[in-house]
Amino acid sequence: MLLGGYILLEDKPSNVLDNTFSYDPIGLIRTPFDSPDGMPIQPTGADSVTGTVKVEESYADGLTDLAGFSHCILLYHFHASGDDAPLQVEPFLDDTQRGVFSTRAPQRPNRIGLSVVAIESVTGQELTVTGIDVVDKTPLLDIKPFVPEFDIPSDVHTGWLDASESKIDSERADERFL
Ligand SMILES: C[S@@+](CC[C@H](N)C(=O)[O-])C[C@H]1O[C@@H](n2cnc3c(N)ncnc32)[C@H](O)[C@@H]1O
Repeated sequence: MLLGGYILLEDKPSNVLDNTFSYDPIGLIRTPFDSPDGMPIQPTGADSVTGTVKVEESYADGLTDLAGFSHCILLYHFHASGDDAPLQVEPFLDDTQRGVFSTRAPQRPNRIGLSVVAIESVTGQELTVTGIDVVDKTPLLDIKPFVPEFDIPSDVHTGWLDASESKIDSERADERFL
């Protein structure tokens, strides 16, 4: 899988040779959702949904100590989105075009998604998690522990989303990013 594109900055780091970055999935996320259409749009709307995160055997040792955390951050590739990456999108929670980087739309220049999920168990190569908002067989790029002291700033504003906050848990995705 190839992620990334041209770096226009003249002061790019000397170890970035050809302006591309290549990542191999470390595993797969298994969920009950066969299609992006009709499913929850964020983990808060999927708190009763259980999924599994299975890493390749060669990465299993890296799961050591994760069971001590209640939540983790999953980073993954939105494999089931259409190829377009418009810079203005109409997000699920609005009927206005918004800059893609002010949204969590799956169609974006680098199709990287993130979800904070609850860890139910860690066994061997596999995590059982709840609150998962991705399609079945989504390729997993990374797992990090969720740490409120690191991840929750003290003074947060949520821009255009303020008007839609009450809909986040009940909203379901439609076909707009397929
Ligand atoms: C709005 S995104 C938010 C995902 C993540 N929590 C984030 O903020 O990056 C969630 C929606 O993306 C779509 N989706 C989920 N997994 C996907 C995948 N593997 N490929 C393409 N679209 C996906 C579904 O329509 C789902 O409702």
